[in-house]
Amino acid sequence: MLKVIELFAGVGSQTESLKEIGIKHEVVAISENDKYASRAYELLHGKVNNLGDIRAIKELPNADLWTYSFPCTDISLAGTQKGFDKGSNTQSSLLWEVERLLTKANENNNLPSILLMENVRALVSKKFIDDFEVWLKFLESLGYKNTYQILNAKNYNTPQTRERVFLFSFKNDVNYTFPEKQELLVKLGDLLEDVVDDKYFISIERINNFSDMTNRNGFIRGLTFKPLEKTSPIAYTITTRSGARSTDNFIIVPENTKKGFREAEVGDGIYINRPYQKRGVVQKSKIPTLKTTPNDLGVIVNKDDLISLRKITPREAWRLMGWKDSRIDLVINEFSDAQLYKMAGNGIVINVLKEMFKKIEI
Ligand SMILES: C[S@@+](CC[C@H](N)C(=O)[O-])C[C@H]1O[C@@H](n2cnc3c(N)ncnc32)[C@H](O)[C@@H]1O
Repeated sequence: MLKVIELFAGVGSQTESLKEIGIKHEVVAISENDKYASRAYELLHGKVNNLGDIRAIKELPNADLWTYSFPCTDISLAGTQKGFDKGSNTQSSLLWEVERLLTKANENNNLPSILLMENVRALVSKKFIDDFEVWLKFLESLGYKNTYQILNAKNYNTPQTRERVFLFSFKNDVNYTFPEKQELLVKLGDLLEDVVDDKYFISIERINNFSDMTNRNGFIRGLTFKPLEKTSPIAYTITTRSGARSTDNFIIVPENTKKGFREAEVGDGIYINRPYQKRGVVQKSKIPTLKTTPNDLGVIVNKDDLISLRKITPREAWRLMGWKDSRIDLVINEFSDAQLYKMAGNGIVINVLKEMFKKIEI
């Protein structure tokens, strides 16, 4: 029986993946200090030995596998970029608590045989690679053999563009190879709910804020919207290029490329936070990376035979991280939308973890 410790456990994507591929394991402890995530963890996986704030843990029980997807807040491009220097007191510098606990385990002669780290791809970017190398050297000094790779969830049959770096460290001489890419068979549209509350639809005011409505020689890049009724807060997009044709089945999303726009159809995911400053604003049948709030993302849907734009729902956010409905049902009514989005956005895509774990001989 594999003994597992999930540090920065969140809602336990790690144990969920092991369960799904039938690897017999026991979670001997977790470290999670957020009260909502801790509660969601227990609703999903049952009572657990949660040691709370990692900074207060003196030593960990004996285990075979430690996972540590430490906070990315100060590494990610969307975050502060303050980094994770030891003693810097940033959220991301909590990584060094793992160093402390590994050093202790080494003294006690009970180092785990496998370690799995996850973080945003910026961790191995020019800005942070030297710091990351320091971390690798430390692990080597304890006798670990490291192997890391950036994996994109869309290559593991999940309709989300989500690049994350994964690092495995093995105490024994394991020749690990990361899983091969898979065909994307599940489309974003397959994971969208049919009936969705009006509150998830994007208001005209909001759309006007992000659309580029500049008229360039008669061509308007931005989206034009028409409400269903004058008083309706819901925006119904009906037009594309020059004319207002309700038969159009695509919308124009401005983006920062030479062409200046991309067409998006029903079932596509788009960036809606200043798309005219970005590239890759339209993701065909996929959603761009889920973060801890969904406000920069939209999905294009049909509503009453018109093409429209809305936010994803909390259930959709969890589905896009690979959770099954029967599992989502355990948490969906227990937390606010904000908490549900945060827990999903903080997590690791289950399919990616499953494919990686399948490649280990446990
Ligand atoms: C990137 S998320 C990891 C999510 C996890 N992989 C999952 O499957 O949901 C980082 C987690 O670290 C937790 N965290 C932040 N500071 C912590 C601390 N001092 N001690 C323990 N956990 C902490 C956060 O609450 C968050 O859930």
